[in-house]
Amino acid sequence: MPQIKQTIRSDFPILERKIGDNKLVYLDNAATTQKPLQVINALTNYYTNVNSNVHRGAHKLADEATELFEDARYKVKCFINANATEEIIFTRGVTESINLVANVLTADMNDESEIIISELEHHANIVPWQLLAKRSGAKLKVCRISDDGNLDIYDLKNKLNKHTKLVAISHVSNALGTLLPIDEVIKLSHANGAKVLIDGAQAVAHLDVDVKILDCDFYTFSGHKLFGPTGIGILYGKKEILEVLPPWQAGGEMIDRVTFEETTFNQLPYKFEAGTPNIAGAVGLGTAIDYLARIDLSDLRHAEHLLVLMALEELRKIDGIQIVGNPSYRVSIISFLIEGSHPQDVGTLLDQQGIAVRAGHHCTMPLMNRLNLPGTVRASFSLYNSEADVIRLIKGVKKVKSFV
Ligand SMILES: Cc1ncc(COP(=O)(O)O)c(C=O)c1O
Repeated sequence: MPQIKQTIRSDFPILERKIGDNKLVYLDNAATTQKPLQVINALTNYYTNVNSNVHRGAHKLADEATELFEDARYKVKCFINANATEEIIFTRGVTESINLVANVLTADMNDESEIIISELEHHANIVPWQLLAKRSGAKLKVCRISDDGNLDIYDLKNKLNKHTKLVAISHVSNALGTLLPIDEVIKLSHANGAKVLIDGAQAVAHLDVDVKILDCDFYTFSGHKLFGPTGIGILYGKKEILEVLPPWQAGGEMIDRVTFEETTFNQLPYKFEAGTPNIAGAVGLGTAIDYLARIDLSDLRHAEHLLVLMALEELRKIDGIQIVGNPSYRVSIISFLIEGSHPQDVGTLLDQQGIAVRAGHHCTMPLMNRLNLPGTVRASFSLYNSEADVIRLIKGVKKVKSFV
């Protein structure tokens, strides 16, 4: 194994774990990534030495906690190349970010408005828009995908019109690994006067994201899929858009002045951060971003892509394996089926060999219906996966095949 891969792997203590008699092969990175020691230590250090509430303290610990928390915001701003820290809102993750946007856009929608999503969205990028459509009378339109799992850009062109208020779309599909042509989606949508939200849950750990170049109006990701803790995520929004949107959750921190008659609201980004935030989570996410900044990501990402290609090639050689989807550009995810067996059973039999994959609908039930499948088995890769992991996966799948 190349030295760089060995060093990276040694940063992730969980990779040494055994599942029964087998060393863990972790291929469920699309669900959540593992955490490097640096992040684990940052969390321990925060709670051991700093723990305090932020923005309101008159003591040393509060000052230090506030500095760490705001530093983390600054790191996120640099990580996605936003213009200002005011554009970075801490949320619990992509799900909360999308719910936030869907809530604050309510007043902008009426029964003439249209929202466009695609057939391959995660439930988190479907249901909040359905609820918004119900509340406001807006129409939810769904852009088609091809059988290969690519976005039908002509269908998007046909669906866009002057009533389209928002296009909400994944950067990378969590079920098929499709890299969507979001540059084109953003340009087309803006040409029709629509705002664009990008669900970056499956993108940020694998691709460089520059919100200035993309020119998207909103971009969201979860810390736990980027080697950070659970319960922390990011909503990026263009400052001029966020500034005129109303707050959503109300309480402490998001206010300027409160009387029983009236309340005025805090400035950005605090207007959208009611209550005590996940301070340790933000510190952990900031540390994960630091961790990524210190390693040569281009080599590791290239190696990760080669592993995905190797796994695809080897899976295709096995009789009775169906690879689900054949996207033009694939990022880190392979969905497959073994003829004659249910995805859930395959997942269980792989787990018995220490191989962690995901089996089921992957929170994309409408996509599974579109593909006429009960679900898939999903192997998803990260920068710490190795060739040995692919070999174990292929051996594991062959063994499962011999059982069924
Ligand atoms: C594409 C996509 N969107 C949204 C989500 C929801 O993310 P979270 O559960 O971190 O809010 C996921 C999680 O798997 C995802 O893959």
